Amino acid sequence: MKNFTKKAELQQYLATLRAGGAIVTFVPTMGALHPGHLSLIKQAQQLGNVVVCSIFVNPTQFNDTKDLEIYPRPILEDIKKLEQVNCDILFNPDVDEMYAGNESWHLDIGELEGLLEGKFRPGHYQGVTQVVYKLFTIVKPDIALFGQKDYQQFLVISRMVSLLNLPVKLVMCPIARDADGLALSSRNIHLTPADRQHALILSKTLNSIKQQFSPDHIDQLQQQAVTAINKEPGVTLGYFEIADAETLHPASKSTKKFIALVAATVGKTRLIDNVVLKD
Ligand code: PAJ
Repeated sequence: MKNFTKKAELQQYLATLRAGGAIVTFVPTMGALHPGHLSLIKQAQQLGNVVVCSIFVNPTQFNDTKDLEIYPRPILEDIKKLEQVNCDILFNPDVDEMYAGNESWHLDIGELEGLLEGKFRPGHYQGVTQVVYKLFTIVKPDIALFGQKDYQQFLVISRMVSLLNLPVKLVMCPIARDADGLALSSRNIHLTPADRQHALILSKTLNSIKQQFSPDHIDQLQQQAVTAINKEPGVTLGYFEIADAETLHPASKSTKKFIALVAATVGKTRLIDNVVLKD
């Protein structure tokens, strides 16, 4: 695997590959790689012939400095994992390489800005679009892959791509889970064994709502989910929402594609998960 920390060097290398006809696929990450990230790399390998993975813990998308501070950064283990799955290129810049100082950035992402994760993490999606835009202009991928795990993030990035006419195709990949259902996340390492057990209520509840789902019983199912999660010790619910999968507005009977999304703090760790209910 080629490892770049400087954008100019990466750009030069990619330009040669592109001139030779390579299709470049791209998986942006913040590292602490787990099998969910690696499933994106594997999918990327199916769709093109050069896979670039970036590892960059982007400070502008953290609204909580403590969260940024404790974000795991096991770079040597990450490199090993990427080599094991035959990733072609790693881009691992430092903050000064990505940001020239205090840069201003604002993109009108409409109502997605203030809904669900946006409401809880003000400015988060501005930071995400800022860094993903920069990464796209450096890597110039033909295809970029993101996980359904961060469903709202995928909608936000899709909106940016369409607003700015960026020449990249976006692909959403399924959520990788542990055998017991817990969605894989870099933050799971902060869970104590007891937290981890309690955290299972999130995927269990999402599954149960999916099994029972009918557009006629949205309010009732939502209430049932909230009650189940609130009953679980050590878990503080942020939101459980049955939403329109295109707008993330609360779903109604006339919604066509439904999704259930949940956020909760388990012990000291904030987790998110979701499941598509009906396409
Ligand atoms: P990060 O949380 O590292 O996630 C990188 C990518 O992996 C995202 O597209 C995310 O949705 C995906 N992912 C995370 N957990 C997953 C799982 N269990 N199954 C499948 N995919 C999963 O998301 C970010 O980083 C950042 O916001 C980023 C886009 C890199 C911008 O800084």
